[in-house]
Amino acid sequence: MHAGNLYRMEQAAPLSDSTIDRLREISHWVSSVLDLDQLLELIIETATRMMRAKASSLLLLDRKSGKLRFKVATGEKGDEVRRFEVNLGQGIAGYVAQKGEPLLIPDVTKDARWYKKISESTGFQTRSIACVPMRVEDETIGVVEIIDKEDGSPIGREDMKLLTVFADLASMAISNARKIDRFKRENEDLKQELQDRYRIIGESAGLRKVISDALKVANSKTTTLIQGESGTGKELLARLIHRAGPRKNQPMIVLNCAALPETLLEAELFGYERGAFTGATSRKIGKVELADGGTLFLDEIGEMTPGMQAKLLRVIQEGMFYRVGGTTPIKVDVRFLSATNRDIAKEVSEGRFREDLFYRLNVVQIHMPALRERKEDIPLLAHYFLERFQKERGLHGMKISPEAMRRMKRYDWPGNVRELANAVERAVVMGNGIEIRPEDLPIAVEGLARAGSEVGLTLKEAVDNFKKDFIRLNLRHTGGNRSHAARLMGIQRTYLSRMLTKYGIRDA
Ligand SMILES: Nc1ncnc2c1ncn2[C@@H]1O[C@H](COP(=O)(O)OP(=O)(O)O)[C@@H](O)[C@H]1O
Ligand SMILES: [Mg+2]
Repeated sequence: MHAGNLYRMEQAAPLSDSTIDRLREISHWVSSVLDLDQLLELIIETATRMMRAKASSLLLLDRKSGKLRFKVATGEKGDEVRRFEVNLGQGIAGYVAQKGEPLLIPDVTKDARWYKKISESTGFQTRSIACVPMRVEDETIGVVEIIDKEDGSPIGREDMKLLTVFADLASMAISNARKIDRFKRENEDLKQELQDRYRIIGESAGLRKVISDALKVANSKTTTLIQGESGTGKELLARLIHRAGPRKNQPMIVLNCAALPETLLEAELFGYERGAFTGATSRKIGKVELADGGTLFLDEIGEMTPGMQAKLLRVIQEGMFYRVGGTTPIKVDVRFLSATNRDIAKEVSEGRFREDLFYRLNVVQIHMPALRERKEDIPLLAHYFLERFQKERGLHGMKISPEAMRRMKRYDWPGNVRELANAVERAVVMGNGIEIRPEDLPIAVEGLARAGSEVGLTLKEAVDNFKKDFIRLNLRHTGGNRSHAARLMGIQRTYLSRMLTKYGIRDA
């Protein structure tokens, strides 16, 4: 639209080459200068100079208050003028902003719309004014105006055309700046969200060691193998390594090697050319290629078949590969991270995993400790997930009852942090919305015989702890049926009721 305007002007009134050059220069600024204030000033100053106007200004409309405010004002009284505000519909600028149409007034003293106050107050003599609206997506966002020519000649039609071009440039600059602003904000929000999502919670010595090791390898391209039980946070750690290193602005691509049979895995990893096999109707870019410049995280690497292991080894060694059905070698620069919950060294010694690939992947090995090996992290994690899941549902203020916390700390968490997260989420959804109670936790009362047997308790406390757990277990088993539970435990129902009161057990 703007280039079109320039073009039409060239046709209508032969502008000098230097004028056109200036306009081109401004168009260039509009797309490259990012400081909006600076850019608008530049546009208005150039307009003033080119049109030899005595003064000119740019006013922005604030839709909410219905007021126009001076953003830029040139001329000897510019600074004073900037202090004024104009209501929508008031004066010539207000009129143009309201109607959305340009206006040329050769003699303001003869025009009823003329808003004298500014001239009177600043003592700036004004005869003629040309005022043009600025628009973004059919909405008037402000106006640009010029006042009188320096040589006293009247403002003409050609000046109006030129002024329109400047108004368009200013609109475009404003629109761009607003878009960039919005993108920036959205980008910040997203980044923040991601950061929160990828935070690694925990203060235990075991976890700290793992994080410090991860940060050490982050800065190099060192291939790193993360070992640990399922749900311990191996992928989270891989993300930390990626984010803390020089590739952080490139993608980290994740491929789960256990999820796919060999032929599909190969296509996922390397991509394929059109017609490589039936159903390959168009070229597909594989994950190795997508990760170029960044990181490829191979999850559950221990599940990879020997055939795939050989192909993977080649990419890691040579830094290049072929798409399936392709003949051109493709070079990539990829950092490889992998994870497994298997004991790969054992897999190697038993011949199920290639030794050469193992050594390539295992340049550095990091072991994620199981959650039961760092139980001091449980309260931190439980509260972190409680906050997160409440937030997701617009809730807040829930607590974890001391008994529920004791139980969480006692439990062994075979599914590790993932299981803990799920348990807390379920408790948030299914619980009473006030606090997480023991009965809200879908934790099998494992190691019941050991329940409550901690050094520091008296025998009576330990026995009471056991009784509490045992009663809860039986109540849960019978769906809360007290008679049935009492029968199972070989006690009187009345005795059970007394125990429930004594131990403060509500229906399990
Ligand atoms: N230390 C931790 N802090 C916060 N969240 C964690 C932590 N460890 C694991 N998680 C969360 O638990 C889940 C499982 O972690 P993940 O990295 O996928 O484990 P793995 O890859 O070892 O199976 C994910 O939702 C992850 O965000
Ligand atoms: Mg995982």
